Amino acid sequence: MKPKRTIDSSWDFRGVNTKEYTHCYHNYPAMMIPQIARRLIIETNVKKNSILFDPYCGSGTSLVEAQIYGIDSIGTDLNPLARLISQTKNTHYDIEVVKHFVTVLKDKCLAFDVTANNEIDFYNNIESTSLFEENFSKYIPKFYNREYWFNSDVLNALGFLKYLIENTMSDAIQSFFLVPLSEVARECSYTRNSEFKLFRIQEEKLHSFKPDVFKKYFQKLERNLSGLKSFNERCESHNNLATVFEFNTCDGIDPTIIPVSSIDLVVTSPPYGDSRTTVAYGQFSMLSSNVIGFENANKVDKSLMGGNIVSHSLNDTPISCKDELEQIYTLSEKRFNEVASFLSDYKKSISNVAKVLKKGAKACYVLGNRTVKGIQIPLDYVTVEFFNEHGFSHIDTIVRNIPNKRMPKANSPTNIVGQVSETMNKEYIVIMQKQ
Ligand SMILES: C[S@@+](CC[C@H](N)C(=O)[O-])C[C@H]1O[C@@H](n2cnc3c(N)ncnc32)[C@H](O)[C@@H]1O
Repeated sequence: MKPKRTIDSSWDFRGVNTKEYTHCYHNYPAMMIPQIARRLIIETNVKKNSILFDPYCGSGTSLVEAQIYGIDSIGTDLNPLARLISQTKNTHYDIEVVKHFVTVLKDKCLAFDVTANNEIDFYNNIESTSLFEENFSKYIPKFYNREYWFNSDVLNALGFLKYLIENTMSDAIQSFFLVPLSEVARECSYTRNSEFKLFRIQEEKLHSFKPDVFKKYFQKLERNLSGLKSFNERCESHNNLATVFEFNTCDGIDPTIIPVSSIDLVVTSPPYGDSRTTVAYGQFSMLSSNVIGFENANKVDKSLMGGNIVSHSLNDTPISCKDELEQIYTLSEKRFNEVASFLSDYKKSISNVAKVLKKGAKACYVLGNRTVKGIQIPLDYVTVEFFNEHGFSHIDTIVRNIPNKRMPKANSPTNIVGQVSETMNKEYIVIMQKQ
């Protein structure tokens, strides 16, 4: 018998503000709606000494909601940009210190001429122009094909901001200033901002594209500062910790980080498939990761679930999507192996996550059922099957419409331009409980 699904529009959260508190900081692909994490935490009614775990924490939505509720949390993500965003969103920086450095940066940027590539009136700590240029030039992002993605004025401005962040303030506060730098880097690059994947804007538009990097940067800083203020106020009465790690649950979970049977609640939204053919987390992050200076920025997608495609047999696929996989196999063995590789990683991840949950604890997976070659893969059923194998029972699968989530609603599964199909307008909240 198939696991039950409950259609419940009260989970749509139509028209709500999804950018409260630090949720306003930085866009990220396939972000979870904070209201979903909030409601799952509240309805689970976990005690105040509980720990929430998010094995694919992305920009850290469920960790922020754990803090707001008043419990500790742990997240992991293999994308360094996701870790920067989620750790920053969960840090209670001192407002006065932040305000001070906003003013310092504003003053210095006012005195900087982006096109001339030097400063007009800013040599207080710098002895000579040549020394300044030597110092500053180190911070202009250098990576393969950078001129293809950025004009030189933008690169100078981004480099100058990076130079200021690294040379005017302590390490402890730099992340607050790096997060808007990352967002601005993407917005001021030649990539089309409406897409997660990297696609350059049309050739004829390149010359007229002259974004004001500093203006955009300070607008974002001010927005984030106001988010931080309300987050600090909201969490004033409790002092909870959110810690973000870089480990892959497909490979196991280090018991010194998360001991077996120590987690009270999982609230997460896993990827729906490999990054190359679903949501390109690595491509979305690549330009800003290069500007910030993360190593291996170009290799993220390959490291994520399903990134390593290997040959699979039809005999060892999940029972809950056997028919679908057989149909895909007959249409394309290559696509079948992509899906099967992702599912095999997902199975390993769930088996490791299952171990760290306490008896009676709930695992809430918010996910989408993607379409491959026109065939929908019921990832919600697969999730139930994988957890069942570890002694979990299925509580419910809530089906909601996605009014807010920034997702490609229509894609081109055939890769034929103009031929699109509706995908993932619904989200499935799978709730499992360890027996
Ligand atoms: C749907 S997003 C999570 C979004 C997040 N809930 C939010 O609100 O921002 C899925 C995340 O899983 C991460 N991911 C994919 N494979 C992973 C793996 N094997 N281990 C850890 N993270 C992984 C991706 O980098 C991505 O950030």
